[in-house]
Amino acid sequence: PEEKIALKERIRKLLKEREAVLVAHYYVDGDLQDLAEETGGCVSDSLEMARFGRDHPAKTLVVAGVRFMGETAKILSPEKTILMPDLDATCSLDLGCPADEFAAFCDQHPDRTVVVYANTSAAVKARADWMVTSSIGLDIVAHLHAQGKKILWAPDKHLGGYIQKKTGADMLLWQGSCIVHDEFKGVELELLKAEHPNAKVLVHPESPASVVAMADVVGSTTQLINAAQTLDATEFIVATDNGILHKMRMAAPGKHFIEAPTAGNSATCKSCAHCPWMAMNGLQNLADVLESGKNEIFVDPEIGKQAVRAIDRMLDFAA
Ligand code: 13P
Ligand code: SF4
Repeated sequence: PEEKIALKERIRKLLKEREAVLVAHYYVDGDLQDLAEETGGCVSDSLEMARFGRDHPAKTLVVAGVRFMGETAKILSPEKTILMPDLDATCSLDLGCPADEFAAFCDQHPDRTVVVYANTSAAVKARADWMVTSSIGLDIVAHLHAQGKKILWAPDKHLGGYIQKKTGADMLLWQGSCIVHDEFKGVELELLKAEHPNAKVLVHPESPASVVAMADVVGSTTQLINAAQTLDATEFIVATDNGILHKMRMAAPGKHFIEAPTAGNSATCKSCAHCPWMAMNGLQNLADVLESGKNEIFVDPEIGKQAVRAIDRMLDFAA
């Protein structure tokens, strides 16, 4: 713990010296989330991370999360320096949607409005009409559907399927998934719910349909934390990355949170309830990048110019 305290102190000092601000996701290590808040940065869901980074006057942003979050920050603020603790922190949704294959898919369906999830590469966003996050995807697709638009959706099949069911929109779905949320199981969740009949079930929409079907609230990480705070219940079953419990417990003291069941446990399943790429962010590599200025995120400026249109559409819609 003494080492940890010293490391945190060093990070605070380096953030000041570099005039940098720390932007963290709810799935990263709790110490990083706390540091982000304490030092005037933010800890939030993907939509808020994008908006906060864009609007903050700091010249350097340190993004503790996964690569697409760093790229989105760079696309929105090409003039800023964006650093990440580990540049190899990626996402199975991003990996499962290569830009060339995605472009070919779009070419085959020129009549469809292309809506992509934030969890994609800059090159995929460059090909999209809209980018959405889990907090606002449903509203945006409902809006497009009301205009009579047919949608091409990528990459998350579960989030896409959920939005399709809710809105009735005509959606052609790319078949990607999140390796973490894919592991939550509906049948086991039903059994757990039977043991805790008064518990409310909070589900991230990257989870399979059988899990979403059991939910009292479906939403982004921020929306799930808000639900834990505001819902009139003392017990919750949570189907998302367990990194979120750090903030949930702080936001709703006295309430009890139970992790939703997965196919395996941490001994047998590397991606059960915790994202291996989010876990690559730590105090040590955060301190190291602040010290060295290494691990900068770059996006091809031409691709960035294309991609920013889809992101701005979402941010304008959200405003
Ligand atoms: P949120 O936008 O809900 O924070 O989700 C990001 C993510 O990667 C979920 O797995
Ligand atoms: Fe991607 Fe899933 Fe990790 Fe989120 S939790 S970054 S969707 S792999």
